[in-house]
Amino acid sequence: MNQKITIAIDGFSACGKSTLAKALASKLGYSFIDSGAMYRGAALFFYRLGFVSKVHLDEDSIHRSINNLSLNFKLIEGKNCLFLKNENIDDEIRQSHVAEVVSKVATIKAVRVQLVKQQQEMGRNGGIVMDGRDIGSVVFPDAELKIFVTASPSIRAQRRFDELKEKGIPQTLEEVRENLTKRDHVDSTRTESPLIQVDDAIVLDNSSLSKNQQLEWIMGKVEHRINA
Ligand code: DC
Repeated sequence: MNQKITIAIDGFSACGKSTLAKALASKLGYSFIDSGAMYRGAALFFYRLGFVSKVHLDEDSIHRSINNLSLNFKLIEGKNCLFLKNENIDDEIRQSHVAEVVSKVATIKAVRVQLVKQQQEMGRNGGIVMDGRDIGSVVFPDAELKIFVTASPSIRAQRRFDELKEKGIPQTLEEVRENLTKRDHVDSTRTESPLIQVDDAIVLDNSSLSKNQQLEWIMGKVEHRINA
């Protein structure tokens, strides 16, 4: 499999997209980009500036300071970590104060334009697996392989709850469920690049699949695509 393709993985929050994308990239020797981490990084930046909170969004101030947003991935002990200027924010972006505001920040066109530009640059040479909400529709509309991942809401909530618990981030299952429901709604109904299943995406419902089964399934699709 010498030909390096572009693989777009989209889907709802907490359906295991990033885990799958990361495992796939590692198996193929491709780079992996979690675009959701970048929206979380932007959300943290504007949250710290006081431009967004659970109850408000100051779009004008965000527009004025968008050019000061500097996000980059750096490899730290084998892990691709997100940095805001020189600060490693990879842990903080998973916390609830960020999860609560990220969908709001992701509705702003100027934020999306800036991050999409950066994402397209990262994928310029192919050999990339990127996961998010608009990867197959906006970031890489010509991706050779597009996957739309879905899983039942209760399974997604339980998975995210377990993940946060493992990281020592305190949240009840009910809080996690509520946050996911809200984010699903905002992400799929916003005007700018809403989460959609594009016509040429292949659907993967992973509700009852193990991580290995998913990886096997997607590797079959990659091989098929490369040999087509
Ligand atoms: O994948 P995630 O849950 O970490 O994403 C966090 C938020 O970022 C999600 O609620 C929607 C937004 N997002 C987006 O709008 N577009 C993307 N390509 C990725 C994420």
